[in-house]
Amino acid sequence: MTQDELKQAAAEAALDFVIHGSIVGVGTGSTANFFIDGLGRMKDRIRGAVASSEASAQRLAAHGITLFDLNDVTELPVYVDGADEIDASLAMIKGGGGALTREKIVAAVATRFVCICDATKQVATLGRFPLPVEIIPMARAQVARALTALGGRPVLREGFITDNGNLILDVHGLQLADPIAFESELNQIVGVVTNGLFARRGADTLLLAAPGGVRRID
Ligand code: 5RP
Repeated sequence: MTQDELKQAAAEAALDFVIHGSIVGVGTGSTANFFIDGLGRMKDRIRGAVASSEASAQRLAAHGITLFDLNDVTELPVYVDGADEIDASLAMIKGGGGALTREKIVAAVATRFVCICDATKQVATLGRFPLPVEIIPMARAQVARALTALGGRPVLREGFITDNGNLILDVHGLQLADPIAFESELNQIVGVVTNGLFARRGADTLLLAAPGGVRRID
């Protein structure tokens, strides 16, 4: 199976977690896109969706799925999204697609985070994938110095502006033995909007697709 077929298998499995009649939280990226396409087939059985990016909102709308503003939603039973890396505690690195801030906000409102991944995303220790950090543009140099002092090598994502009008620093070479503590530490750097560690609020369920099938890990 190709990596895309595995992503699609994980995404299809996540459709079983969608609560009929509810509003669904929807992530961003190629795996989430497969989920959106599946959701399109069952659009008459949901009220609609909250999107974590402009790209996902456009794809949902193209399927005729009603979009809700998160501020108008009090209950989001399920949020479905991919990840760049996920460990055994279901802590993740996210933001490869640059949507980390909205993803973290929508996930914070959701009751259950269902992560959909192909097996290449599962790691023993987070950190091989460069950690995306969304920053306020005028703080770029100051945040880069702070990240370097923490042992990382920040690289500006060239030509990329987030949906929120900010920049992304991709931080290489970090040792992420304690992702919960590090997520909090990064949040203290002035000028950081969001970091791509999803450890304090990790996934609740992982649907991990390998050639042998999709494994559920809670
Ligand atoms: C986007 C994300 C994505 O979930 C992550 O990058 C995985 O992407 P893909 O499903 O394309 O491999 O966090 O900001």
